[in-house]
Amino acid sequence: MNIVIGVTGSIAAYKAIDFANQLCKKNHNVRVIMTTHATKFVQPLSFETITHHSVISNMFDGQQDALEHINLAKWADLCVIAPADANIIAKMAHGIADDFLSTFILAFDGPVLVAPAMNTVMYHQAVTQRNLSLLTEYGYEIVSPANGLLACGDVGDGKLAEIEKLVFHVEKILTSQSLTGFRLLVTAGPTVGPIDPVRYVTNHSSGKMGFSIAQEAALRGAEVTLVAGKVQRTTPYGVARIDVATTEDMLEQLKVLMPDYDGLIMAAAPADYIPMEYHEEKIKKAGDSLTIVFKKNPDILKTLKPVLIDKIVVGFAAESHQLLENAQKKLAEKNLDFIVANNIAGKDSAFQSDYNTATIIYKDGRQQPIPKQLKTELAGNILDEIQRIRHKKEER
Ligand code: PMT
Repeated sequence: MNIVIGVTGSIAAYKAIDFANQLCKKNHNVRVIMTTHATKFVQPLSFETITHHSVISNMFDGQQDALEHINLAKWADLCVIAPADANIIAKMAHGIADDFLSTFILAFDGPVLVAPAMNTVMYHQAVTQRNLSLLTEYGYEIVSPANGLLACGDVGDGKLAEIEKLVFHVEKILTSQSLTGFRLLVTAGPTVGPIDPVRYVTNHSSGKMGFSIAQEAALRGAEVTLVAGKVQRTTPYGVARIDVATTEDMLEQLKVLMPDYDGLIMAAAPADYIPMEYHEEKIKKAGDSLTIVFKKNPDILKTLKPVLIDKIVVGFAAESHQLLENAQKKLAEKNLDFIVANNIAGKDSAFQSDYNTATIIYKDGRQQPIPKQLKTELAGNILDEIQRIRHKKEER
């Protein structure tokens, strides 16, 4: 996609270099417009090196076509003003076009994201707040600044939103909002079996698969809650998260949440067994061996069956042998709409990997093999299937 970043006079201008870099890495074509004040904070050359395009600052400096603001407005799919100082916000709110950036914005009729960054008093001034409300009224999307220590030494609202948050908003605007109104629960990662205050047993699930699904669903407009086992991962933007430890905890959370959701994707690897006994005190080293007796955990999907009626339910099957037969059995036993069978015996696939090789098996027995692909891509395929099932249900 073609994206214009408008950079204005704020110390946060240096963060826009990283922002431009992140967008270029995602294969977007990025052009940068800087106000003259912005060029006092960072050099245009930094952006030019990253984007491979010259930066535009002045309206009539003889460097470009007199209609460049119009040409660029026709070229761009999206514009992001980051950082947006109080001045550009005021100009946009009142239709002032007195430099290249403000003239470009007026000439552009696509989506515009505005990420304010300024001193906290300037941000909270009634006039700035009024101007931001006007921008919202005019259809601009505001990405609120963060709270924290500002460059001037003050603490408060006014820090440019995190770059990851800006990237999320960009991707969301560019993604079809096909799951709007759909409330989705996603589980991810491993559960644990505590042994004593310092030890537990678990499995190799990293949470990557479930987190990728949650992220992609949020980008498509779904209301997503992630129930995550023991993983050290950043919560995707636009996703609510509840952390759990044991399979019982995961089951209890899902029991409470499920009635308010339309779908469940069980990408977690919940432990099937848990140590029978939890030792309140650390087990002392003694003897050459230690025996721990395990008891069976509840099967979450089977237990939830009564509350899953009318919901769209997707399971995963992690198998090292007889993949399709075992997956088919689980699909039937757990009453799923479809199951994603992933072969854990393969190299660089399933547990821990960024990739997965899977076969989607449907209720009617149809099988759709999915060649090795990034988990982020597989997440998209799974959500496409959910969309199809959702539409079919709505037609009935
Ligand atoms: O987290 P990653 O490193 O990205 O790896 C992803 C993954 C390999 C963990 C994921 O793709 C996956 O396969 N998850 C399911 C793993 C698993 O527990 O499979 P299973 O065949 O034991 O269980 C079948 C289904 O029942 C799963 O949807 C599982 O979430 C669910 N289950 C399992 C145990 C249990 N007690 N209750 C359940 O509901």
